[in-house]
Amino acid sequence: MPHTRIALVTGANQGVGLQVAKELVANGVTVLVGSRNLTKGEAAAARIGPGATAIQLDVTDNASITAAAERIRTEFGRLDLLVQNAGISNAGRDPNANIEDYAKTTRASNVSFQEMRAVWETNVFGVLAVYQAMLPLLRLSSDARIVNVSSGVGSLATNANPSFGYRRMFGPVYPASKAALNAITLAMMIELEGTGIKVNLVSPAFTATNLNNYAGTESIEDGSREVVRVALLGPDGPTGTFTRWENTTIPW
Ligand SMILES: NC(=O)c1ccc[n+]([C@@H]2O[C@H](COP(=O)([O-])OP(=O)(O)OC[C@H]3O[C@@H](n4cnc5c(N)ncnc54)[C@H](OP(=O)(O)O)[C@@H]3O)[C@@H](O)[C@H]2O)c1
Repeated sequence: MPHTRIALVTGANQGVGLQVAKELVANGVTVLVGSRNLTKGEAAAARIGPGATAIQLDVTDNASITAAAERIRTEFGRLDLLVQNAGISNAGRDPNANIEDYAKTTRASNVSFQEMRAVWETNVFGVLAVYQAMLPLLRLSSDARIVNVSSGVGSLATNANPSFGYRRMFGPVYPASKAALNAITLAMMIELEGTGIKVNLVSPAFTATNLNNYAGTESIEDGSREVVRVALLGPDGPTGTFTRWENTTIPW
């Protein structure tokens, strides 16, 4: 199958990003496997096979982002699909500590600014920085799409509802970083209205990955399914959506 569409997936050396990269390649897309550690990216690209190429990309490092954009311009002359998947859930949690205990020490009243800034640097400012660098390349595509990978835990509408059972887990670090990501994605959607560049926001299901110490309940294939579906939408596919698992809309 010829690989014609050019995609960049950030944080694609493991987890959801790797699964998305794998399935895009299986569907004929040429995929740049973004990885902050190039060696890990090369190993992931080798596992995927022809159609996948590693690219060094740390979303918190402007020099890395600029170099990646220059390389894409030189080698491909455009970008058709940008999947902003890279993300972290914490910056200093003891890997053996449970999530409820971590939530108690990262409430609005006691959160460490260092912890919060580190997570927002990747999940929020990193996404905006990659958007700014890649937008000129997306503008050169005849059918461009941006897919930002967020989380249902960032839904303000859901967490503002007193009957939502998990709202005690809503804190300033990861959940609020995803709420901020949702807000800047809405800003991208509004900015690009009428340009032909589509923007979609997606949440994977609760998937067993490094992000949650493999506590997720879904397999990598099932948990990534909605991200893959949206990334593969064609020119007639919708823009401005926020969906999850099984193509269900998430309230903003
Ligand atoms: N798993 C879930 O249940 C779930 C649910 C909802 C949303 N999500 C979202 O899905 C996305 C993927 O998460 P995952 O579950 O697949 O986690 P993961 O397995 O930990 O993968 C995260 C990826 O992001 C990369 N990354 C982290 N910081 C980066 C940086 N500064 N620059 C570039 N890449 C960076 C990681 O690279 P390294 O390998 O170098 O660390 C890794 O490749 C995240 O945005 C996450 O918030 C996940």
